[in-house]
Amino acid sequence: MTTATQQRTSTDDAQAQEHFDALIAQDSRIEPTDWMPAAYRKTLTRQISQHAHSEIIGMQPEANWITRAPSLKRKAILMAKVQDEAGHGLYLYSAAETLGTGRDELVDQLLSGKAKYSSIFNYPARTWADIGAIGWLVDGAAIANQVPLCRASYAPYGRAMVRICKEESFHQRQGWEILYELANGTPEQKQMAQEAINRFYGPALQMFGPPDEDSPNSQQSMEWKIKRFSNDELRQRFVDMIVPQAEGLGLHFEDPDLKWNEERGHYDYGQLDWDEFKSVIKGEGPCNVQRMQRRRQAFNDGAWVREAAAAYADRQRPAATRLTA
Ligand SMILES: [Fe+2]
Ligand SMILES: [Fe+2]
Repeated sequence: MTTATQQRTSTDDAQAQEHFDALIAQDSRIEPTDWMPAAYRKTLTRQISQHAHSEIIGMQPEANWITRAPSLKRKAILMAKVQDEAGHGLYLYSAAETLGTGRDELVDQLLSGKAKYSSIFNYPARTWADIGAIGWLVDGAAIANQVPLCRASYAPYGRAMVRICKEESFHQRQGWEILYELANGTPEQKQMAQEAINRFYGPALQMFGPPDEDSPNSQQSMEWKIKRFSNDELRQRFVDMIVPQAEGLGLHFEDPDLKWNEERGHYDYGQLDWDEFKSVIKGEGPCNVQRMQRRRQAFNDGAWVREAAAAYADRQRPAATRLTA
């Protein structure tokens, strides 16, 4: 590169950065065709693809209960919910692809174990009540996390989140309703509901990520207006939301430190087990190995569908541009 070209490039970059900063400052949206800093693109590619992977892996603990749902109505609702999660994965892979990384590569990162997904999906759904707890607490935490993402500065991500959040509200509601029925059923059913929320309370609170002081990348994401609230702010908002909902169910959380703090105007809650969180992220959770085996198998089993779709798409092209005769 000549010196003159270098100078022109650096002036162009400085102007582009200035334009980007101005768009962020005025709460405007960044579109795929806009210039963006390489680190912004990388952060978003990682975040959106991890989010997509979580939706896809997250189908497993619930799909496992479709054949065992206690009634035809419950089966139909659960099937619709699990299908929604597949749809969420697809919107999000599409949003991630607009940043320039192809879906094959993103999927490969998941299958090779290079990419992470939300650690909550490495916990098993042991009883039917767990399906209620997952819908109410896991989808509930997802909503608390995702509603602010509807305003994320990267437009395709924000647009995907608007649609996803509408469906998540239904997911949370159906989970709460499963628990409501159990909590108002026999003493054994109520006990099963209580045990399910005991299992999911801690892991659901951990879905917001580590405490703010251990989350060094959050600040940059806030400055870029990808993230609007810190991990601890969102976690607090979630706790404040679920405590009265648990009371509505006639159930409780087994956290001795959980109590209303008049001065703060929020519920206080106990320390979470961050060692457990780290070990699940490292791959030592109860279902990490099983989830990845199942995903790889599903990917391999679906090879013929991808081949057939590619062959069909090729046949739709004009003869001169076809790959196969
Ligand atoms: Fe979802
Ligand atoms: Fe959901």
